[in-house]
Amino acid sequence: MTKTINLGTVIMNRTCFFENPLRRVLTIAMGLALYVFVGVVGTPVARADAANVVGPTKCTECHKATGAVWEATHHFSTFRDMPRAKEGREIAKKMGFKRIKAGSLCLDCHFTSVVEADKLKPIAGISCESCHSGGKDWIKVHSEFSGKKKEAETADEANARWAMAEAKGMIRPKEMYRWAKNCYSCHTVPNEKLVNMGGHTPGSPFELVAWSQGEVRHNLWYTKTNDPASDSRKNLMYVVGQAIELETALNAVGKATEKKTYAIKMAGRASKARKRFYKIAAAVDLPEIKEVAKLAKGAKLKLNNGASLSKIAEAIAVQTQAIVANYDGSQMAGVKAMLPAADKYMGKAAQ
Ligand code: HEC
Ligand code: HEC
Ligand code: HEC
Ligand code: HEC
Repeated sequence: MTKTINLGTVIMNRTCFFENPLRRVLTIAMGLALYVFVGVVGTPVARADAANVVGPTKCTECHKATGAVWEATHHFSTFRDMPRAKEGREIAKKMGFKRIKAGSLCLDCHFTSVVEADKLKPIAGISCESCHSGGKDWIKVHSEFSGKKKEAETADEANARWAMAEAKGMIRPKEMYRWAKNCYSCHTVPNEKLVNMGGHTPGSPFELVAWSQGEVRHNLWYTKTNDPASDSRKNLMYVVGQAIELETALNAVGKATEKKTYAIKMAGRASKARKRFYKIAAAVDLPEIKEVAKLAKGAKLKLNNGASLSKIAEAIAVQTQAIVANYDGSQMAGVKAMLPAADKYMGKAAQ
């Protein structure tokens, strides 16, 4: 955690680059070291590793109310409905998969799987661990108050407990970059073959506020009232979501190989996200946000430009993580007018 905060400081210090040549060299060196650190540790795609999945019924033993909310979402029902849908069977057929629930690419995004007899076995739709990561190594750590009664655990012990859970892979609400990146890794559908050959939709019209504050919302643990995110947090979600949209779309364009639906749609996504980010940068005066806009401006949206685009995407990711580390969104009131109204939220939030 302190590392991430350092990263923010380094980035914010950029303005003093030209004052002191030694500091400049040091800052660049530190920046690079942290860049590598973040690149390796900070940007994993979680989408539960099957070997670590314990399954949603384990989580809902304690998180009962959350389980009920989840059961009313598309993430839950896709397990049963998608393989039965004509459209699903057609996509699978075009991709050459005999069975959607066995050995197919569909498992990546529509299901949560465990390993059984060396094979992936889907046990649920998109579930707790698709978003919070496979719980095997952290489930005890996060819930056992350092082996004490809740009241007896000191603040230091609680911090150490959470640090340990994070080190074991748990994705927590406060880690907005990690969880949001995860939403986008499914919702942009970054798979050229699946789109061009399978005819799968080239992604959702995903926006983080609208898509997280409707049916998916489950703020039911620390409060019982499923409150929406605060105004500040919504600002932060909007900005972080648009930055990750950019990052993901630039990477997707970079990986495209033919000028067909996938490349065209992903370039359109990137281009729109870039324009939205220029608007954000005009409305919010923060160095990391200006830097994302500047990086995006340099991106050439064309085929065979993968190396350059992935470098720009990586640099945007570093800035986005700094945004999450350095701000809580109260500094971003300028985006208020851009936020989706509550009637645009996807699905109804549970009461
Ligand atoms: C044995 C009961 C128990 C089980 C099983 C359990 N949890 Fe928890 N969970 C807790 C407790 C207790 C807390 C709050 C700890 C605290 O207040 O410090 C918590 C908190 C959380 C949080 C909030 C973390 C934060 O940063 O505040 C998340 C997310 C979470 N659990 C997810 C899960 C998932 C996913 C599973 C299944 C893989 C799971 N839990 C299984 C008891 C449990
Ligand atoms: C990279 C992630 C990803 C992969 C891999 C993937 N899907 Fe999807 N799929 C999605 C997302 C996200 C949606 C929701 C799109 C939207 O918002 O309209 C979706 C929607 C669908 C839908 C329409 C809604 C529904 O559930 O009936 C069908 C059908 C479907 N996918 C079938 C498949 C099949 C079959 C495969 C495997 C060949 C597959 N998908 C692989 C991410 C993926
Ligand atoms: C689609 C992804 C997704 C799924 C599926 C999901 N969560 Fe979450 N969960 C999140 C996100 C994102 C947050 C933080 C939202 C925020 O910060 O506003 C969160 C927050 C939480 C919290 C803290 C809530 C609070 O009161 O502050 C708990 C506990 C939790 N999840 C447990 C679970 C359990 C248990 C399941 C399965 C029954 C589950 N989650 C399924 C994404 C998901
Ligand atoms: C493992 C892949 C995956 C992850 C991670 C994921 N989703 Fe989804 N999501 C899907 C798929 C697939 C569907 C389509 C299911 C269907 O319609 O049958 C979907 C559907 C939805 C829907 C319903 C859309 C509608 O048409 O009504 C919402 C809202 C949503 N996701 C929000 C989120 C949010 C917010 C996150 C991150 C916190 C997230 N998702 C993370 C795969 C994923």
